Amino acid sequence: MSASRKSVMLSTATRRKLKAAAKAASQHAYAPYSHFRVGAAVLSDRGTIHAGCNVENASYGLTICAERNAIFQAVAAGARDIVAVAVYTPTPQPTTPCGACRQVIAQFGAADVRCDADGGATARYALDELLPRRFGLEP
Ligand code: THU
Repeated sequence: MSASRKSVMLSTATRRKLKAAAKAASQHAYAPYSHFRVGAAVLSDRGTIHAGCNVENASYGLTICAERNAIFQAVAAGARDIVAVAVYTPTPQPTTPCGACRQVIAQFGAADVRCDADGGATARYALDELLPRRFGLEP
């Protein structure tokens, strides 16, 4: 499991880029069943941004959420230390990641989760707040 657990201060420019990447990814959501289009973007300790959207399946349980997709994109690109996650949903109020995504976010260290809604409302959470007393085995 990643060691990075400290909340980081993001510059306004980085914060905007991360949010824009999450929103752009939501445009690619494949959500023919729920019609709920989610985008996520993660910032690695190298400064790279990796985005993902939700991808649904006729066998509903095989659906992947935007947050996990974004993290898996980061890992596939060689980035394993995630410092921040941005989630974009087309909702009036921000939506927080599901339980499965919280556990995966924890695996790669992101201490800082920002959720942005369509109307501009934003919420910021510490991972400890989203998933206290989580399961973890040090690799
Ligand atoms: N979804 C996400 O992408 N992220 C979440 O944290 C919660 C839910 C997706 C999965 C599914 O495609 C749709 O939203 C409705 O649950």
